[in-house]
Amino acid sequence: MKLQSVLLGTGSYLPERSVSNHELSKSLDTNHDWIVERTGIHSRHVAADDEYTSDLAVKAATRALEAANLKPSDIDMIILATSTPDNTFPATATRIQSKLGITTGFAFDIAAVCSGFVFALATADNYLKQGMAKNALVIGAETMTRILDWEDRTTAVLFGDGAGAVVLQAQGNTDKGILGNTLRTDGAGYDQLYVDGGASSTQSTGVIKMNGREVFKHAVTRLGEAVNDILEICNVEQSDIDWLVPHQANKRIIDATAKKLNLPDERVIHTGHSQANTSAASIPLALDYGIREGKIKPGQLVLCEAFAGGYAWGANIIRI
Ligand code: UT7
Repeated sequence: MKLQSVLLGTGSYLPERSVSNHELSKSLDTNHDWIVERTGIHSRHVAADDEYTSDLAVKAATRALEAANLKPSDIDMIILATSTPDNTFPATATRIQSKLGITTGFAFDIAAVCSGFVFALATADNYLKQGMAKNALVIGAETMTRILDWEDRTTAVLFGDGAGAVVLQAQGNTDKGILGNTLRTDGAGYDQLYVDGGASSTQSTGVIKMNGREVFKHAVTRLGEAVNDILEICNVEQSDIDWLVPHQANKRIIDATAKKLNLPDERVIHTGHSQANTSAASIPLALDYGIREGKIKPGQLVLCEAFAGGYAWGANIIRI
């Protein structure tokens, strides 16, 4: 029987503390108008000192399980997309597994930075279709503010913390679920957006460095290609897409992709204004927002896409 990875529920969590552009401009040579005009961001959430990526992930996952009407013990696979793990190893996903009280199945992390959730969804989809698992928790969770140089205005204003999660179930005889995935990387972009530390190179965590203008150009071009690819892979017309649920790096990049799809702004989920760029967490956060707000409805077609450091980029189409 042909299996499909069906979305049973979504959940998300944002740390309590919200930091406005105005607050940032007290300690940084920047201003609200510049940040809004160039990015669309008004504020971002920042995790408390004792709040780790796994804590944000567990809260989002718990909400997704409730929405899916499943118990933690029903889950037999956890995939966490993150670039800000609690520790260099073990995989933070195993800590989430333990915090949720799950003692069976398997859990692992995926690192594709801001495209992490797109990569994690594609990975989960293939595992579920192969029958390696029945119920999957796919999570994007980040504490990006821990790897910011708070004196670098070109990056400090762009990122935030948060987590989003989805529960997927392998089901037969259905037209719902993930219709297809496209993943790409090009390591030629490795030095354009990176963290200048790591276990192997500096034995430290490092901070984010980005050549913003260069990344912006590649993001618009590559996302345009990814959108064409995913429509072809899924045999879906542009006009069939009900919602664009994009990675929330920059409103101008999102607008360019929506234009490519001929989608009006009312069909695009925007969360970047109050969350900034939460890297791998941004798509599941946006998906959960869209579903809980009653915008995205059962039966509709959703296109998710992201571009990231690496470069790594991709897209998925899901029938809700
Ligand atoms: O999620 C992973 C993928 N990441 C992305 O997709 C991010 C892609 N890049 C971007 O979103 C944009 O390039 C940025 C938002 C990072 C920057 O916007 P931009 O329109 O490309 O600005 P820019 O880097 O060309 O900088 C324009 C000016 C510069 O001043 P000069 O050289 O023209 O005098 C910057 O120094 O803006 C200055 N600037 C700032 N001014 C006030 C840079 N950062 C700031 C700031 N506040 N925070």
